[in-house]
Amino acid sequence: MRRPPRTAIFPVGGLGTRFLPATKAMPKEMLPVVDKPLIQYAVEEARASGIEEFIFVTGRGKTAIEDHFDHGAELSNALSARGKEAELRAVQDMMLEPGQVAYIRQQEPLGLGHAVWCARRLIRGDEAVAVLLADDLVMAKEPCLKQMIDAYVTVGGNMAAVMDVPREETNRYGILDVVGEEGKLTAAKGLVEKPAPEAAPSTLSIIGRYILDPSVFVELDRQEAGAGGEIQLTDAIARTIGREPFHGLRFDGRRFDCGNKAGFLEANIAFALARDDLREDMTAILGRYAKACQSGEDALAK
Ligand code: G1P
Repeated sequence: MRRPPRTAIFPVGGLGTRFLPATKAMPKEMLPVVDKPLIQYAVEEARASGIEEFIFVTGRGKTAIEDHFDHGAELSNALSARGKEAELRAVQDMMLEPGQVAYIRQQEPLGLGHAVWCARRLIRGDEAVAVLLADDLVMAKEPCLKQMIDAYVTVGGNMAAVMDVPREETNRYGILDVVGEEGKLTAAKGLVEKPAPEAAPSTLSIIGRYILDPSVFVELDRQEAGAGGEIQLTDAIARTIGREPFHGLRFDGRRFDCGNKAGFLEANIAFALARDDLREDMTAILGRYAKACQSGEDALAK
């Protein structure tokens, strides 16, 4: 049995240009799905999966993330003075312990591999680490990362969460060159970052959850640029294949691509429908819009 990862890296340095102007002065990771920022979903998933140390690789303009995970004495006092117990609990329960969280800046946006590499001095060199991309939001009974860790302790090596995507979308993902499948695990003999549909070795795509063997950091040390001129995490992992096994895990759950507008809006609908306090209202609202869409009426006219 391998030791499960205790540390998770959250690359949160990206510019979020797809959500401008919303992200002009606010990190894209702070965009809320219902009433919780994307980054908090990722942190809660990691916590629920047994992660004890949280490293955020941030950048310019990202201090709202640090503030979000910090105590807000003024707010807590005000909530408690007004007897707002549920709200108080909501801001207290999300707090990480002192010393459990570290922030480091990626000074230049040189790619996901570079962002992860920026955390190299903050991790233990002999333990696996998890990486979570907050853009990929997963709704699941059992946290996606937990499902991966349960598989990882038996197979070791490197692992990513994977799902099939339409072939015309392979140029948005890291794609597996598959050698074999066993249950939910798919072994790969190679990985290609964002291949054109006609060149993609499969349609099995990496979504933003990884468990990395320390040898990946040795590869990242080479600082070699790949697809799009960026230092790619996919390439560094690919170079360890042969020495370390690589497995994709087809996780149970639904993934929302919150890096694009339609995916983000869908996540808001799905998470609202999953909430007892919102389901009824949302169902009525959606029903109204669905009816208007079908009949070509203007839903806002009603
Ligand atoms: C990154 C990775 C890619 C992966 C994707 C998952 O791409 O480079 O391999 O499939 O995340 O969301 P990005 O979305 O940052 O362009």
